[in-house]
Amino acid sequence: MHPHVGESDWEEGLEQAASFLKAASRVAVLTGAGISAESGLATFRGQGGLWEGQRVEDVATPRAFARDPRQVWRFYNLRRANLAEVQPNAGHRALVDLEQRFGDDFALITQNVDGLHQAAGSVNVLEIHGSIRRVRCTECPYIVERGVEALPDLPHCEKCNSLLRPDVVWFEEMLPATIWSRAELAVVRCQCLLVVGTSAMVYPAAGLIATAHEHKARVIEVNLQATPATQGVDVSLLGPSGTVLPELVRRVATAPPL
Ligand code: APR
Ligand code: ZN
Repeated sequence: MHPHVGESDWEEGLEQAASFLKAASRVAVLTGAGISAESGLATFRGQGGLWEGQRVEDVATPRAFARDPRQVWRFYNLRRANLAEVQPNAGHRALVDLEQRFGDDFALITQNVDGLHQAAGSVNVLEIHGSIRRVRCTECPYIVERGVEALPDLPHCEKCNSLLRPDVVWFEEMLPATIWSRAELAVVRCQCLLVVGTSAMVYPAAGLIATAHEHKARVIEVNLQATPATQGVDVSLLGPSGTVLPELVRRVATAPPL
């Protein structure tokens, strides 16, 4: 399960990570595409990733949409169709349990646009990159949840008949301001940040890890492999989040032996 660490390191890492979480009164979590991989959704970077054989500039920028909205919608409609087939996994569910322990002192910041955290039952979810379950008008304020239902090749606004777009953040676009400031605040205030399944390469999201360090929070990383963030973190747990998170959260829930 975790070929990069010996059994004792593994135990030690889990115990240490659990102790950081237990010691914290506020916890923030940052997730990326890796947490949904075990549900059967492709990640972006690396082998078999969504950006493999596809130029980001062709499907995930405002320029791409202006030039060829059909191509962009083809990409997103395919991803919406994939969503109809998948379920949250044990990693998503473990974060629901973690939220239940911390209640209002817990924030789940996600770069994912798949909605699987909410589907699992997470409540305080900050979708800093938006959601492909929502569409919005390119001209008027119209915005609506469309779930995973099939959309036309080129959907138009019910109000003004302009082109609709997915309510996601593309490269070169600003993040939704209110959600982003809540995410930053959650990281500033937490004593422990848990970073799961992100390559930690896309900013400003990845910058939340540095923010946590600056504010003296413990940082735990769960990933299949090392990332640019790994060197700086307090604990790195190398393994699939669907296995690591339930094990970690179980230890947080368990009272230490007397
Ligand atoms: N368990 C844990 N980690 C995993 C797993 C797994 N089962 N499978 C993959 N990973 C890790 C990979 O090792 C990688 O570090 O998840 C990470 C996925 O990285 P990316 O594909 O780059 O996804 P992400 O970090 O979410 O990308 C950030 O880039 O294109 C944009 O807007 C898009 O929100 C996305 C942003
Ligand atoms: Zn409109």
